[in-house]
Amino acid sequence: MADTPTDGAKSHKLWGGRFAGGPAPELEAVNRSIDVDFRLWPFDIQLSKAWAGALVGAGVLTADEAAEITRGLDVVARRIADGAAPEASDEDVHTLIDRLLHDAVGSVASRLHTGRSRNDQVATATRLWTRDACQRIDAQLRDLQAAMVAQAQHLEQHVMPAYTHLQRAQPVSGAHWMLSHFWPIARDRRRLTAAAEQAATLPLGSGAIAGSAFPVDRSAIKQALGFHSVSPNSIDAVGDRDFIAEVLFTLALLGAHLSRLAEDLILFGSSEFGFVRFGDAFSTGSSMMPQKRNPDALELARGSGSRMLGDLVALLGTIKGLPSGYNKDLQEDKRSLFDAVDGMALLLPAITGSLASLSFNTERMKAAVTSSMMATDLADYLVRKRVTFREAHGAVGRLVREAEEKGVEMTDLPFASFRAASAAFEEDVLNELRAETSLSHREVDGGTGPAAVRRQIEAAKEAFL
Ligand code: ARG
Repeated sequence: MADTPTDGAKSHKLWGGRFAGGPAPELEAVNRSIDVDFRLWPFDIQLSKAWAGALVGAGVLTADEAAEITRGLDVVARRIADGAAPEASDEDVHTLIDRLLHDAVGSVASRLHTGRSRNDQVATATRLWTRDACQRIDAQLRDLQAAMVAQAQHLEQHVMPAYTHLQRAQPVSGAHWMLSHFWPIARDRRRLTAAAEQAATLPLGSGAIAGSAFPVDRSAIKQALGFHSVSPNSIDAVGDRDFIAEVLFTLALLGAHLSRLAEDLILFGSSEFGFVRFGDAFSTGSSMMPQKRNPDALELARGSGSRMLGDLVALLGTIKGLPSGYNKDLQEDKRSLFDAVDGMALLLPAITGSLASLSFNTERMKAAVTSSMMATDLADYLVRKRVTFREAHGAVGRLVREAEEKGVEMTDLPFASFRAASAAFEEDVLNELRAETSLSHREVDGGTGPAAVRRQIEAAKEAFL
């Protein structure tokens, strides 16, 4: 089997002249990337048109030939859009388009591949695809942020516990908690924009490794394709996949952020917390337990973050140790890139829908705020009365223990207990044990004070537009 070459005569190849026979089917099977890179076709057509224009400028094509090729590329685009399927011999998307272009315009098609290589071609097409993908993900993130801001506005006046070590820590506005998940997404969007900017460097014109031998105007190609700069080194240009690594890192981190949001919501939706109820349209049932209302989309958000992480690690593993220039290993880049982007594109609308359709049980949230969570406020109260924080911490600690031993809230302790703990306590101390008072002390920028939260919501609204 291994030494039975396939019939080279029937297949449309971009190479092969120097071989006596065709490649072994086993090689073709492993070499073939069309199943993965087929989706690059609109971008390959776009760059091919720009290349035809550049070849006119370089004196390789006449204007008529370029016009004929451009017309042919439109025919190819229509045929693919209408469902023209790849043939077994189409090694990759570039081969497919070349074959269909020959079908459409005949031998003039053979002039298009002058001075370019699939090495600079695939790098260019992948960059174009990546820029488009970053925009799509960004639009989805914007929708998620809009849902967060809407929920934050709804929760603004409602108090809930904030947790450290998953232990009740201090009371916060529900909006403050909600927006704690908004800002990481704002940072992710900035990273995505930066990654898209990295992708906006044009490799086309680099040829296989040493630069095109025809005097193409790369700056004009850059303009035509909407890139921002021209790669400064052809060896680097055909082997550079940093932009993919940056997108994958961004998506992996975004995946981690979504996973943390999902985890909060899953916990809050358990009967033990009972802070949220998942909307019907975003809950699934159990085949056995009729009472179940499961947050599957959120669990999948938590679970699939690890895939994006895996995609990043896979790409870094591919790049590391490669000699300079293009190596076929790099064909694997698209598998990781597409997997991460597809996963995220699938996930984001489901998370946004899950979040938007949540209802919050603000009574339960408020009821979870217990008086011991104001222990820090009590200590701060004493500090305002000139007790040192260390002394205050000890005094309040004794009160907390007393309440715990008696099995009561601190608000139920007699005033005598407060006095016994510190002589600085006065009758107004009960006011310090109210969550509203605790919040009102935290008007520092970024704090959970009512005015600070109002400012934060306004800032969030501005940030996501
Ligand atoms: N399918 C290839 C890839 O995705 C295109 C570049 C092929 N270049 C080559 N020298 N064989 O990387």
